[in-house]
Amino acid sequence: MKKLEMFLDPSHELARNDLIGLLGLQDREAMEELFQRAYEVKLQQVGKKVYFRGIIEFSNICGKDCFYCGIRKSNRNVVRYRMSEKEILEGARFACESNYGSIVLQSGERKDSRFTAFVEKTVKAIKEMSGGKLGITLSLGEQDEETYRRWFQAGAHRYLLRIETSHEALYRRLHPKDHSFRKRLNCLNLLKMMGYQVGTGVMIGLPGQTVENLADDILFFEKMDVAMIGMGPYLIHKDTPLSSEVTDFETIKDRQLDLALKMIAVTRLYLKDVNIASTTALQALTPTGREMGLRAGANIIMPNITITKYRSSYQLYDNKPCLDENATFCRACLEQRIESIGETIGYNEWGDSPHFKKKETGEAVDESGHIQH
Ligand code: 5AD
Ligand code: FES
Repeated sequence: MKKLEMFLDPSHELARNDLIGLLGLQDREAMEELFQRAYEVKLQQVGKKVYFRGIIEFSNICGKDCFYCGIRKSNRNVVRYRMSEKEILEGARFACESNYGSIVLQSGERKDSRFTAFVEKTVKAIKEMSGGKLGITLSLGEQDEETYRRWFQAGAHRYLLRIETSHEALYRRLHPKDHSFRKRLNCLNLLKMMGYQVGTGVMIGLPGQTVENLADDILFFEKMDVAMIGMGPYLIHKDTPLSSEVTDFETIKDRQLDLALKMIAVTRLYLKDVNIASTTALQALTPTGREMGLRAGANIIMPNITITKYRSSYQLYDNKPCLDENATFCRACLEQRIESIGETIGYNEWGDSPHFKKKETGEAVDESGHIQH
C-alpha cells in the first residue's frame, strides 16, 4: 500500500485503489489523519457552516418490504400513523420560526393518487405559509414521472433517494424480488432531468458489503453528479430479516462507526464540494456521533421536528436517538453540539452546495464557496 501521506497529498488525484486503501485503514492514528485532512478539505470547499434541514417524518405507512428497515410493510409490531396537513404545517412553521433554511418531508413509500394529491397540497401550503422562504426537500421513495413533476411544480426543489448500495447484486440480496435496482436508478435520473437537486446515498457496513463496494459507491455518486449525499451506518432493527444475519452487532458497533466516518471522509476528499449529511444513524452508535461526522467532513444536519408522539413509530433501526424529545429540545441540543466543535449554523439559508451552484450558474466559485461575480 502507498504511504498515507501520499493519499492525503492535496495534489494527488485519488484513484479507485486509493479510495479502497483509505476505506480499509485500521490504524487509529491513520484514521485520525484521514479525518483531519477531510476536515481541511471541507473548510476549503464548503466552509465551517452547518446547514440545517428540519426533518418531518410524516407517515410510516410503507408499501415496501426492504429486509433491513424497521417500518417495512411486513412488520406487524409497528403502529402505523400519518400526520395531518395541519400537523405538518405546524412543523414547517417551527422550522421557519427557528430560522432553519429548509425542511425535509419523509415518509414510507406510497404510490396511490390520494397520497400524491396530499403531498402536492401540503407542499403548496408550506410554500405559501413561508412566503416561499422555506426550501422543501422530499424523501418519499420511488414514484412515477408525473408524480415527481407535480410535486416539483408544487414547490419542492430537492429530492432524496438513496440508492442504498450501488452494487446491484448486493441490492438484490437486501430486497424482495419485486424491488428493482434498475427502477430506483431510473428514478434518480428522472429526478435530475426534472430539475430537482438530487441527493442520494448508501448504507455503510451492510452484511456482505466490501470496501471495494463502498469505493464504487463513491464513484457512483460522482457519476450521478449529485448535489447532496446522505449516508449512514447500517444498524440492526430486531424485527427485520436482515438482523438475523448479524448476530454480533454489539461487538461490531465501533467498527461500524469507524467505517461510516471513513466513508464520509473519503467522499469529502474525493468529491470535495458536495453537501454531505452527518446522519442521525451515527448518533445511534454513540452520543457524539453526529459531531464526529461533521469533524470527518460532513456539513449538513437534519434536526428532527417530527411531533414527539409519532417518533417511536418511525424507527428504521434500533436505538434511534431523540425519541422522547421535541423539536425545541433537539434544536437546542444540536446548537450546543455544533458550538462545541467550533462550527456555526447557516440560519435562514437554503445551503445549496457549491457544487450545485457552480453547475447552475456556470460561474467560478471561490474557496469559501462564494460565487465570484
Ligand atoms: N440501518 C440504517 N439505515 C437504515 N435505513 C433504513 N433502514 C436502516 C437500517 N436498518 C435508511 C435507508 C433509507 C433511509 C431513509 O434510512 O438508507 O433510505
Ligand atoms: Fe434530539 Fe439531541 S438532537 S435530543
